[in-house]
Amino acid sequence: MNGSLTESLRRSPPSLHDSADYWGLAWEALAWLEENVQQGMSTLETGAGASTMVFAARGARHHVVTPDAEEERRIRAACEERGIDTSGVTFHIGRSHEVLPELEAPDLDLVLVDGAHGFPYPILDWWYLAARLNEGGRMLLDDAYLPGIAAIVDYARASDAWKLEAPVSFRTACVRKLRHGDPPNEADAQAAHGRMSFAYLPPGRRVVASARTRIFSTRAGIWVVRKLRGPR
Ligand SMILES: C[S@@+](CC[C@H](N)C(=O)[O-])C[C@H]1O[C@@H](n2cnc3c(N)ncnc32)[C@H](O)[C@@H]1O
Repeated sequence: MNGSLTESLRRSPPSLHDSADYWGLAWEALAWLEENVQQGMSTLETGAGASTMVFAARGARHHVVTPDAEEERRIRAACEERGIDTSGVTFHIGRSHEVLPELEAPDLDLVLVDGAHGFPYPILDWWYLAARLNEGGRMLLDDAYLPGIAAIVDYARASDAWKLEAPVSFRTACVRKLRHGDPPNEADAQAAHGRMSFAYLPPGRRVVASARTRIFSTRAGIWVVRKLRGPR
């Protein structure tokens, strides 16, 4: 692990949230931020904490969205104690799905999604922030093992507009935006790339529905049917 601020936070983790415990990013992910955030970069995070301190220390023009105004007070105080200038950090107090649609912020080089983790909030964060991310910009998705966040990772892995990069910690995924554009408006089974769930059906009907959909609606299934039919 590199990074002196990360090391210092690790030695004495500050209480920045409504708890005596440390609720921040994994140390590995904080060290990654410390290495990769450059002076003057345009950055944004949902949620706030130790990560905000690192963005500030690295001199980013940084926007933070959190519903808890006390966090802003604690983070600015913790930065002051360590001599970290927070003049480049702008807090937006509110819930991200309400703040982000109206937020006036420049185009972004790097985003951290680590606010509300329940479905569908991370997906809303991704949606509002993806459009503002520069081509080549990266988005870190913390707690990527959770279903809403894993769905974004799955999408990025299958999309040619995004690239799934090496994770920055055991729980933090990293996706890079390759080009602008909305996700394709496909609604059929082919668009699912095989990742379909029939869990809404009673168990007895799942197998039949799954086989029927996979055989008749996917590229692989259509290929099998054509092969079985033989040449015409
Ligand atoms: C796990 S902590 C973030 C940790 C931070 N990245 C760090 O390194 O310390 C989750 C954060 O999300 C914030 N949060 C909770 N609900 C939110 C929402 N609806 N929109 C934005 N932030 C939210 C919490 O106030 C808290 O700051």
